[in-house]
Parts: sequence; structure tokens; C-alpha cells
Amino acid sequence: MDGNGRWAKARHLPRAVGHQRGVEAVRTLVRAARERGLEAMTLYAFSTENWNRPQDEVAALMGLLRHYIAADIEEFAQNGVRLQIIGDYSKLPGDVVKMLEDALARTAGNTGTTLAVALNYGSQDEIVRAARAAAAEGAITAEAIAANLDTAAMPPLDLLIRTSGEVRLSNFLLWQAAYAELWFTDVLWPDFTPAHLDEALAAFARRERRYGGR
Ligand code: IPE
Ligand code: MG
Repeated sequence: MDGNGRWAKARHLPRAVGHQRGVEAVRTLVRAARERGLEAMTLYAFSTENWNRPQDEVAALMGLLRHYIAADIEEFAQNGVRLQIIGDYSKLPGDVVKMLEDALARTAGNTGTTLAVALNYGSQDEIVRAARAAAAEGAITAEAIAANLDTAAMPPLDLLIRTSGEVRLSNFLLWQAAYAELWFTDVLWPDFTPAHLDEALAAFARRERRYGGR
């Protein structure tokens, strides 16, 4: 989800307003994912590198996270959405950790769309943690690493979308993206609508996946 800052800048608005509009896009897209019967969707909300942003922007993002969890957990609970967190969320502010754990517990029994939110997430950090856990268990194999990734309970990654015209992965789901289809769009995240999602899904459906075969 990239482009909140540029969305705001283009309108001479504070970056925080861009993030606010970004949250509204999240809300719409989670509903769209559910309505389309997607098994899982992962949103990159806060990276291990985002801590380097100015303190007031980090605080604004944490504030939005609090607000979003409080406002939307009921809708998740009622619509079968199962929340997952990837990343080391224990480093977030204590009250946010508590809200997240409560939300995880409340939706744990749901069987609809899995919504994974990446918080304090960095793929290299995740792979290091998984490799250590695999070594502690015995053997460092691809299967053992995969089983120890934060995404272990999620289905394989099929489609990875990045908004705002950047054409890189930026430490997101590096292991999981090994055979994922990639979709890059110039649309800024606050402008990303279910119609844009449908465009990406339609392109995905036309791709031929060979997984190294021929
Ligand atoms: C993405 O938007 C939102 C988060 C990282 C939380 P940006 O804040 O990166 O927006 P740009 O890249 O400055 O436009
Ligand atoms: Mg950005």
C-alpha cells in the first residue's frame, strides 16, 4: 500500500490525511476481498524501516491503527474475517499490542477471508527468525523455513500488488513471492478501488504459471 504521502502532497494536504484516506481504502478493499471470496489478503501496513520516519508520522500511523482496529473488528467478527498479523508486532506500543491480541482472539474461529496485516514486518527479518527456528528444530530445509515463517498458516502467495508506480518489493514477502505473479500499478493507494483489484485479478487469471516447468 504505497502512495499515501504523494496522494496528500498532490492536494496540498498533510501526509496524515493521506494515511487516513489510505485506511478508508483498506476498509473498502477488505470488503471487496471478502465479497470476491478471496481466501487471504495480506496488507503491508508498517515495515521494520518505517520506524525511521519522523516521530509525528509514526505516531499518526499508530493512532490510525488503533482507530481502525477499534472501528472494524466488529465487522470482521460478524463477517467471518480471520485476522492474522505478520511481523514482530510485540514492538508496537503496549496498548496496540493488547488491541491486536484481543482482535486475533476474537476472530480466531472465523473461516472466511484471512486478512493478514504486516506490522513491524520485514521479510529479511522474518526469514532470519524462521531459519533460526528451523535450526533449533533440527534441519534448515526450505520446508522447515516455510513452516516457521509468519505466513506459515496462510495459503501460498499467488498475486502481489504494489501501488504508486514503484517497481520493487521493498522487503515484502520475499520468500513467499518466489512464484507469485507481480502486478505494478501507478495508482496511489488512497485511489485504489475494487475495480483496480478486479483489473489485477483479471490479469492474474490470464497468466500462465509454470513454476519452472514448461
Ligand atoms: C504508504 O504510503 C503508507 C505506509 C508506509 C504506512 P507512503 O507514506 O509511503 O506514501 P509515499 O510513498 O510518501 O507517497
Ligand atoms: Mg512510500
